[in-house]
Amino acid sequence: MCGIVGYVGKKDVLPVLLGGLGKLEYRGYDSAGVAFVKDGQMKVIKAKGRLSNLREKLGDVVAEDTIGIGHTRWATHGEPSDINAHPHTNTAGDIAVVHNGIIENFSKLKNWLISKGIHFVSETDTEVVAHLVNYMYEGDLKSAVMKTIKMLEGSYALGVITLKEPDRIVAARKDSPLVIGIGKDENLIASDFPAILEYTKDVYLLDDGEVAEITADNIEIYDVLGNRVHKEPFTIDWDVSQAEKGGWEHFMIKEIHEQPVAMHDTLMARMRDGKIDLSEINVTEEYINDIEGIHIVACGSAYHAGILGKYVIENIARIPVSVDVASEFRYRMPSPLLSKKDLFIVISQSGETADTIAALREAQSKGAKVIAITNVKGSTISREADFTMHTQAGLEIAVATSKGYTTQCLCLYMIGAEIARMRGEMSQEEYDRFVKDLQKIPDLMKMVLDKKEEIQHLASMRFGDVNEFFIGRGIDYALMMEGSLKLKELSYIHSETYAAGELKHGPIALIEDNTLVMALATQKPLIEKVISNIKEVKARGAYVVAMTQDRYREQFEKDSDLVLTVPDIDDLFAPLLAVLPYQLYGYYTAVFKGCDVDKPRNLAKSVTVE
Ligand code: AGP
Repeated sequence: MCGIVGYVGKKDVLPVLLGGLGKLEYRGYDSAGVAFVKDGQMKVIKAKGRLSNLREKLGDVVAEDTIGIGHTRWATHGEPSDINAHPHTNTAGDIAVVHNGIIENFSKLKNWLISKGIHFVSETDTEVVAHLVNYMYEGDLKSAVMKTIKMLEGSYALGVITLKEPDRIVAARKDSPLVIGIGKDENLIASDFPAILEYTKDVYLLDDGEVAEITADNIEIYDVLGNRVHKEPFTIDWDVSQAEKGGWEHFMIKEIHEQPVAMHDTLMARMRDGKIDLSEINVTEEYINDIEGIHIVACGSAYHAGILGKYVIENIARIPVSVDVASEFRYRMPSPLLSKKDLFIVISQSGETADTIAALREAQSKGAKVIAITNVKGSTISREADFTMHTQAGLEIAVATSKGYTTQCLCLYMIGAEIARMRGEMSQEEYDRFVKDLQKIPDLMKMVLDKKEEIQHLASMRFGDVNEFFIGRGIDYALMMEGSLKLKELSYIHSETYAAGELKHGPIALIEDNTLVMALATQKPLIEKVISNIKEVKARGAYVVAMTQDRYREQFEKDSDLVLTVPDIDDLFAPLLAVLPYQLYGYYTAVFKGCDVDKPRNLAKSVTVE
């Protein structure tokens, strides 16, 4: 989960590198560095901590050249430090490398290089690459890199420059994302689109095993055998403004407020004459009536979307849905159980999560057809899945997802409705009502966001907490998984999600005087049960914040310390509204605590390593 960027062209390279790294900091931010040419020498400047530390170290240095590479790090091997920051160089310092990924056989390679008399200065796996390129170099950087990557096991996105050929960057990728920006008299490499949007929207998407050699006016791509590869340019359909805060204090609050539009766009992209058109994922009536189950695999918030989707799809389509964490699925012993009669869905906002990619490949190796729900066109998952449903959330920069999650949920509602209709579990009248309810969501979300001050006030009272509970039943329990994660990853307050009926089986022992318990109850048949659970925790001193729909508010007034509501809608859709107050609660709590809301500690936006 690091970010790499490279530039060769006619501009002063440092502002391009630093600007690009600024747009990639969400991928990792414990140290950063750049390598560029100045006075005929390779200059490598690195700094522990945020990019601002590197900027400070660089001061008013002006690179005399127009070629360089940069890196922002999420440490895997070796603690965050100046020495361990990238770029890494060979001993002579005339070859520099930036790397995103993990070289799994780096110890063996390091020992071999040490036996050849090479001296290492860092603890990282990446430094091995710099020395190997040097060892293989016989006058042609591309050839040296191609020989080097043949020796590497694991994952890499590499950018390499050398003083001996100061007009070119060589890039290579395997299992870590890398795009080649196609400019005018300039070309770039980057881990992700935001770093290059300012210069071009046209890119080449490197595939695993490919190597690119770029100069200011030429791009050549080679396959693993060294054959030239012809690729069609891919045009990024985001604009550079989406990579800016646009007046909001943080990307997080901006993206929370972009959800009504994101939901509208994701839904309307598939509405044809009042029907949901899922031809993009080839969900045909024949196929749907042949499947016996649905298997959803994802990580983090995407996994939570899968759990919520389970409750919805089983409710309306009456077909069993199993949901797995990708890192568990891929290592299920002796191997994952999969039936060709399963519809297999992976969910990933970034489309680059290593465990989810591995799960996709595992399912395909067993003959399953894989549908992907992802937000990034051109991502590895979107390219490798058999069919892809793109959420129209737009660029999501904040490390903690908001619109990525809700649009993933929306896609699962749409898939559920189509399956229900095709399997005869939903009448045309019920289907039409379902679609109309979906179309209400964007405006109702705006109404929820208009009441954000009450959430901000609650956060102002509770941001000193060290422990909170999020409870619910049924689909509300699924939603609370995401509500709780938002608080944890944004404010570092520990919170647990529990099925409300489970508390009495142990966790209720943790309830003390004034322990905050968030209780979500939007499903009419379960309200009385949740109220009983509220009474249980109240009897032990808890401070209970109930959340329900407007029409059910009165039922909670007596037993709860605070009642929050979302606008009325058919129960099944209420969690799509209820998630917003919990996103806001996590956000405001983090702000009150002075946390780095857009880049929480220890996290990265896209976990491209295991
Ligand atoms: C989201 O708030 C988290 N930062 C994280 O759990 C994320 O959902 C997870 O890493 C999966 O990412 P993906 O959707 O890009 O695959």
